Amino acid sequence: MNDSVQTPLNIDPDWWRQAVVYQIYPRSFSDQDGNGIGDLVGITLKVPYLKELGVDAAWLSPFYPSALADGGYDVDDYRDVDPKIGTLEDFDVMAKTLHDAGIKLIVDIVPNHSSDRHEWFIEALNSPKGSAARDRYIFRDGTGTNGENPPTDWVSVFGGRAWEPVGDGQWYLHIFAPEQPDLNWENSEVHEDFKKTLRFWSDRGVDGFRVDVAHGMAKDLTEPLPSEAQLQEIPKEGNHPIWDRDEVHNIFEEWREVLNEYAPPRTAVAEAWVETHRRPAYARSTGLGQAFNFDLLSSRFNAQEFRDIVALNLELAKKSGSSSTWVLSNHDVVRHATRYGLPIDAEKTNEQVGREWLLAGGPEDQLDRELGARRARAATLFELALPGSAYLYQGEELGLHEVADISDDQRQDPTFFRSPGINIGRDGCRVPLPWEALGDAFGFSDAKPHLPQPHWFAQYAADIQDADPTSTLNLYRAALRLRTELQTDEELEWLETGNDKVLAFRRPNGWVNITNFATFDVKIPEELTEGEFLLASVPFDGEKLPGSTSVWFKQD
Ligand code: NOJ
Repeated sequence: MNDSVQTPLNIDPDWWRQAVVYQIYPRSFSDQDGNGIGDLVGITLKVPYLKELGVDAAWLSPFYPSALADGGYDVDDYRDVDPKIGTLEDFDVMAKTLHDAGIKLIVDIVPNHSSDRHEWFIEALNSPKGSAARDRYIFRDGTGTNGENPPTDWVSVFGGRAWEPVGDGQWYLHIFAPEQPDLNWENSEVHEDFKKTLRFWSDRGVDGFRVDVAHGMAKDLTEPLPSEAQLQEIPKEGNHPIWDRDEVHNIFEEWREVLNEYAPPRTAVAEAWVETHRRPAYARSTGLGQAFNFDLLSSRFNAQEFRDIVALNLELAKKSGSSSTWVLSNHDVVRHATRYGLPIDAEKTNEQVGREWLLAGGPEDQLDRELGARRARAATLFELALPGSAYLYQGEELGLHEVADISDDQRQDPTFFRSPGINIGRDGCRVPLPWEALGDAFGFSDAKPHLPQPHWFAQYAADIQDADPTSTLNLYRAALRLRTELQTDEELEWLETGNDKVLAFRRPNGWVNITNFATFDVKIPEELTEGEFLLASVPFDGEKLPGSTSVWFKQD
């Protein structure tokens, strides 16, 4: 083990089951070296902020060397830090500072594809067809007389064809951008190298991993390849050539053995966009141990939908032996304060509605910013009262809205460039955070931030919110403080509210959450509000529960 391992012996191996994990998108968090891109020193300096916020762990999106063709999910070297954002020494200092503050560290790992600048891929391009170097990736002969056409007509997830020619009649597969060639998980060197990477970061004190595109790593590309495979579609069962194949779990069993070499075992959470009933397989203890549940994130702010999602996911968590995860926002979706402020479309998920609004240029007359923010606060208290772990995305604690007004020449997301007119991309939730209302780049950087910050960010700045007891930031702080005191079990009991727009549940320790999903005040049964009042998402006088509000009580 590396000298820098800082794993106190008394760590509860189950720390992750109900942890609040704060996602940091490093390049947009805090820039200390003044190049307009957030860095690891910036994260270290903000550890007191994270501690005061009260999170249990920080998850870092990729910070590895990268040309940023996909925001860092195109990794040149899995065992180093991007010089644009720091060094391995900076990483060690950051890890130690987080640990000293009692905050665990989770890092993103991107095993489905490397970048096209990875030394393996460069070697593959310089090696002949059929070579060992090409076998680490997925090369196939093209069709047509001289291989001038792609092996299949597959369209990549980001749009455009999923194969790229290399000039000798062969093509390589990239289910995302061309700069992200897919690795071949039937190759033993790929297996060995990723185990080395897991140990490299675990030895450096990393507590867990977020596994990118976990559901895409095992592929069945036996010839002839099916021409009808739709890469954008989630299959119902495990017979798709790429997504959610049963064999993928063999990889994770192998990884689990590595993760269990450590004390406490390193955790892992799968990013697996699969059919709900197939999710427990990723979360079982012989595999990664936990899987993201994106159901709330796709849902409207609606009592019935929220209730069904919670009930189903608690059941699935029991099935896998894991705890449920809850996510309202992340770096891939429209921020939930914005999604909840848009008109409802019964045919579409909440996320689709947000994406279409962005594509239309973010018309202000369609967005009710105040309602969205109010619902977001209510949804957050609802989420934080649930059993399981909550994954928060940087900036949601400030109540940030999505940034819609980014000009085309400032956009970075490959989905924008690869699907013109269809998908505006994800830059709007990745705009650097506002720390100070009056500072340069709102305290993010001394230089021009890599994505433009709108003028209205000033009113969301952390320093203003810090001083305002009613701010969203202070609501999150209060909620997380209370949560540590209350989070003692993983059960939930639904309570009768007499109104189908109001949900109430109690945890066995007496913690009660009541959420009014309606836009109007509702009188709630007295017995529900008995006990000690703890917190409300907006001022609450105890008589009627205002619309779009959550409130917490503690009963005996
Ligand atoms: C999922 C990540 O969350 C996303 O940001 C990325 O573009 C794709 N995987 C490809 O790595």
